Amino acid sequence: MNDIKILLASDDQELFSAFRAVMGEMPDFALVGVGRNSNEALGLVATEHDLDIVLIDENIGPTPAHDLVREISMRRPNCAAVLLSTSVDENVLTRALEAGARGVLSRQPSLEELQTRLSTAAEWARGISRWIGGGQAETVGGRRGRIVVVAGSKGGTGTTTLAVQLALTAAAKDKNRSVCLVDMDLQSGDVPSYLDMVHRRTIADLVEVAGEITGSMLADTLFVHPDGPHVLLAPVEAEQAEDVTALAARQILGALRSRYDTVIVDCGTFMTEGTVTAVELADKVALTVTPDLPSLRSAKRMVRLWARLEARKGEEVVAVLTRQTRKNEIQPDFAARILGLPLAKTTIPPAFRALEKAINNASLSKVEDDAFRKAVLQLAGELGIVDGEPADGGGKRIKAGAR
Ligand SMILES: Nc1ncnc2c1ncn2[C@@H]1O[C@H](COP(=O)(O)OP(=O)(O)O)[C@@H](O)[C@H]1O
Ligand SMILES: [Mg+2]
Repeated sequence: MNDIKILLASDDQELFSAFRAVMGEMPDFALVGVGRNSNEALGLVATEHDLDIVLIDENIGPTPAHDLVREISMRRPNCAAVLLSTSVDENVLTRALEAGARGVLSRQPSLEELQTRLSTAAEWARGISRWIGGGQAETVGGRRGRIVVVAGSKGGTGTTTLAVQLALTAAAKDKNRSVCLVDMDLQSGDVPSYLDMVHRRTIADLVEVAGEITGSMLADTLFVHPDGPHVLLAPVEAEQAEDVTALAARQILGALRSRYDTVIVDCGTFMTEGTVTAVELADKVALTVTPDLPSLRSAKRMVRLWARLEARKGEEVVAVLTRQTRKNEIQPDFAARILGLPLAKTTIPPAFRALEKAINNASLSKVEDDAFRKAVLQLAGELGIVDGEPADGGGKRIKAGAR
C-alpha cells in the first residue's frame, strides 16, 4: 500500500508540531501539507492528489470547521474528513458525523490512538476511491484503452445520437468493459439532453489540472450513468471551448485512455484545437454523413482540413452513412465515390419515431427499432468497440469506391 496521505487544516503551530512529531514515528503515514486557514485547506484539497485524510482543527477559520468538513466531503467524497476537537463526546461526534466527517480525534491523541484511527479512516477512503472509480481509481500503468472519435460532417447528421448509442451499446454488451463518453462538441455539446442527466462538472474543470489528473479527480468530474457509461461533459459556456487546448486535450484523453477500456468522443462538427487533437489521438474516427450532397461535400472538407493539420489522413477515417434507406437517391457506393473515403460496411437506418420517443422519454438506451439497434451493434463491432460482431448486414456491404 502507498503511504497514507494526510492534510492538516489548522493554524495552531503547537498542534502542528505535535502532529508532525507523532507522525514522524508512523512509517506508513505522510503529512503532505498544512492549510493554515480554511481557504488554504480547500486549495490544498483541490491540488494535493490522492489525499486520504484531512484533519480539521475545530478552531479553523474563517469558514467554521463543520462547514469546512461539509465542503471537503462534498468536493472529495473519497477523502476522509476527521475533526480535531478538545473534548470528544457524543454531542461533538454526532455534529461532526452529520457534517460528513468520518470521525473525531482528540487534539492531543496518543500515538496508538492516532495510528488506529487514521488507518481505519484511510481504509475507508481507499475503499470509496475504488468504488467510485469503478475499481480503477489508481493509475493503471501502461494500460491503453481504445479511443473512437465520432465527428459530424454537418450539424444534425446524427453524431451525438451515434456516439451515445455506441457508448450505451459497449457498456451493455460487456459489463466488465469500462466505457467513457466524452462530449467534446465544445461549443454546443448536448449529451445531457440525450441521456437524461444533470451534472455540474465538465471538461473545463479538468483543464487546469490536466497535467496531473488522478483517478479521484476523474471520479469527481465524470457523471456515472446508470446504464453504464461514465460521461465527461462539454463546457457549459461556449467561450470555454478555447481553454481545451491541444495540450489539455492530449492530457485529458491520455488520462481517460489509461483508465477506461473504451473512450468514445463526440467531437461535433466545429473543429477546435482540442477536437483536432482528439481526431489525431483516436484509434478510429467515424465521420457521420447523411446521404445528400451538402453533407458529402462538408465531409470532404472536414477530411481535407484534418489532412492539412496533419491530424489524420483520409484513408484513416471511416464515413458512416446515417438515415440511409434503399429509397434514397444517393446510395452507399455513390457516396463512397464522392467522398473518396472508406465507408463503414454498416449504414445507420432512419429511426425517426423510435428516436423521438426515446428522447422524449429520456431513455436513449431503449430505442424501439430493431433495425436501428442492430445497425448500431454491428457498427460497434466494425469500430472495434465490441468484440466479434462481424459486419454481415445482408446486402449493405460496400467497398470504398466500388460501384
Ligand atoms: N438514424 C436516425 N434516424 C432518424 N433521426 C435521427 C437519426 N439519428 C439522429 N436523428 C435525429 O436527428 C436529430 C439530430 O441528431 P444529433 O445526434 O443531435 O445530430 P448531431 O449531433 O450530428 O447534430 C435528433 O433529433 C435525432 O433524434
Ligand atoms: Mg451533436
